[in-house]
Parts: sequence; C-alpha cells; structure tokens
Amino acid sequence: MSKQVSVLFVCLGNICRSPTAHAVFRNKVADSGLSESVRIDSAGTGHWHVGKPADRRASQVAASKGIEMADLRARQVDLGDLIAFDYVLAMDEANFQDLKAMALPEHHAKIHRFLDFAPQYEETQVPDPYYGGADGFEWVFELVEAASDGLIAQIEQDLAKT
Ligand code: 4NP
Repeated sequence: MSKQVSVLFVCLGNICRSPTAHAVFRNKVADSGLSESVRIDSAGTGHWHVGKPADRRASQVAASKGIEMADLRARQVDLGDLIAFDYVLAMDEANFQDLKAMALPEHHAKIHRFLDFAPQYEETQVPDPYYGGADGFEWVFELVEAASDGLIAQIEQDLAKT
C-alpha cells in the first residue's frame, strides 16, 4: 500500500483527550500493520499548554492499559494543519465549531466529530475531563478506544480503494 492517510486529533488543551486519542490510535494502527500508511498527530485549539507533556492523569490511565504517551507534547492547531491533514477529529462540539471557523470552506468536509466513528455510544462528544476526577479519564479512554476502532475501519476502506 503506497497511499498515505493523515489523521489529526484536536481538543482544547492537547494535554488530556487528543493526546489520549493520539496514543490509543497509534497503538491500534500499529496492531493493524498500518503504521507505514497512517500519519498521526494531535493539537489543541488553545495555546495555554503548548510544549507540555500530557496530563499525568491521562498518561496514568493510558499506562494502566499498556499505552505509552510520554513522547507527546502539546501544540496549537493552525490553518496549515487543516490544509494538510486528511482527517481532523474534534473531541467536542466547541472544538468542532472552532475548527470549522478556522478552516477554509473547501476543508470543512474533513473535519469530523470523533465520536461519529463510535455510533454504538449515545455520546456525541468526548467530555472534557480536566476539572473532574479520575473516572472521567477512564471514560475518555473508553470512548476514544471505540472511536479509534471505527476510524481504523474507515481508513482501511480508504486505503483499499487505491
Ligand atoms: P483537553 O483538556 O482539552 O482534553 O486537553 C483540557 C486541558 C486544559 C484545560 C481545559 C481542558 N484548561 O482549561 O487549561
């Protein structure tokens, strides 16, 4: 497979939800043998945490499931990202609307609500866990795992079309 697909996960701070999605999705892509075909990154709509590693609560939940995210550092999404990436996955409705407002009209179609890829869940947004307790981070992890499986199934279809 020579075709490449690029995927960008976006939340507010890029220290809780989108780095969790980045790390979970990266592991699943590797398990599916697709690492050569899929480029993965994450970013935040906000600038407050740029350069910082993931929130310790997020990395602890991930580590408890065997997922490593120590290498990830927060950065802010920019217009170039919205031009470059094939899939831009917003964690919640505010992220989705902020991305649409930033993007050129021709790029709107590649901006998705991440949980559209987990239709078995009633939730349409990955809830912001930052000000809550540890169970919020577990819930984020579960939702992100489910949506990652759905997104991989979609990307496998995309790659098979070449
Ligand atoms: P994230 O969580 O968007 O999932 O990375 C947050 C991180 C930081 C803040 C809010 C949400 N904050 O307000 O600093």
